Amino acid sequence: MAKITSIKGRILYNSRGSKTIEVDVTSDRNFLGRVCAPSGASVGKHEAVSFPNGRPEDSLRVLNENSEKLIGLESSDLRQIHDVLKKMDGTQNYSGIGGSLAFAVTIASMESAAKASDQQLFQTLSSESLFKFPFPLGNILGGGAHAGPGTPDIQEVLICPTGSKTIEDAVKTNLAVHKELQKILLKEDPDFTNGDEGGWAPKLKNREALEVSAKACESLGFTLGKEVSLGVDFASSTQWNEEKQKYVYERAGFENTAEEQIDFVADIIDKFKLIYAEDAVHEEAFDDMSELTSKFPNSLVTGDDLTVTNKNILAKAIEKKSCNAAILKVNQAGSLFDALEFADLANRNNIRLITSHRSGESTDSQISHIGLATKSKILKVGVVGGERVAKLNELLRLSEHDLICGMAEI
Ligand code: PGA
Ligand code: ZN
Repeated sequence: MAKITSIKGRILYNSRGSKTIEVDVTSDRNFLGRVCAPSGASVGKHEAVSFPNGRPEDSLRVLNENSEKLIGLESSDLRQIHDVLKKMDGTQNYSGIGGSLAFAVTIASMESAAKASDQQLFQTLSSESLFKFPFPLGNILGGGAHAGPGTPDIQEVLICPTGSKTIEDAVKTNLAVHKELQKILLKEDPDFTNGDEGGWAPKLKNREALEVSAKACESLGFTLGKEVSLGVDFASSTQWNEEKQKYVYERAGFENTAEEQIDFVADIIDKFKLIYAEDAVHEEAFDDMSELTSKFPNSLVTGDDLTVTNKNILAKAIEKKSCNAAILKVNQAGSLFDALEFADLANRNNIRLITSHRSGESTDSQISHIGLATKSKILKVGVVGGERVAKLNELLRLSEHDLICGMAEI
């Protein structure tokens, strides 16, 4: 047990070059937890507000004015730290202090507590005695809100090394597919760039983007659905036009009614044997998500903008059977305490968890530990880019740890 002896915040930049907040929490004058908050580009309507008035400086000011309230607390007492932050905030959605501040303070406190008790963070976050590695899920091709004009409307084509038996093989496999895809794309669109999460961003239509990704897997000798599987984050709220009540695929030049969208998605899941389909319809279409969930019991029909790491919204999704998997992004919820409550509800209801990065990331790697501690089946962290590889490298380091053995069962 160790008490918080100092807290210090500062303004830094994330991988997109946007300002964010970093917080240092020290226990017993010795044990430093340091966390820099990430941020999203395709943000769900019901996510925690990142910063008061959109200004990281306002979160920093709040921290400076109130840090005394946290000094002297046990750094491992997540609930108490959360309660103090909630009181400081005084709102339902963290618009008073900023969800990013709640994110950074709570995770940094737990990291400091872990160091004080000479443990790894994942051990401090969980009472389990054995852990399994989540499968890394990586963005190989980006479009939508993560890439420029001419790229696919769908946000992410993802690779999952479903046949890997070790974390080393899993990471290596994703890297190989990412590299092979580059080779193939160089022939089709030599001027392509990179998306926000390190996926390639070629000027291709949606379907072509999937075809070329499948080709990369096959040209390495992999069979889709065996050694590797593809996934898609449709991020469909980006396409949904409330006025027209249609999904508008601006770049590809077509529109889908709600019904047509279900057929469009179902066709992609079938044709490309997707293991993973995220936000296949817009964030308020709980019934359409239910239809897809019952149609595809063998795929992870996943809520991200749908469930926004909010336990009340997840409860609604569970009741309506709107998904069989859910993204866990701590900063969507706000504090780590909120996110762990969400994880607990998901695990008690057989909703498979996918702990995830944001498109604007820091080089921190605590989410690798959060993925382990929440029994996540998948860790969605990208394939390349320093801020993405940091999370994968942390998993590789942790493979030296006795308490973690084997890969999760998806
Ligand atoms: P975001 O994207 O971090 O920009 O929200 C990631 C995702 O939608 O999963
Ligand atoms: Zn998403």
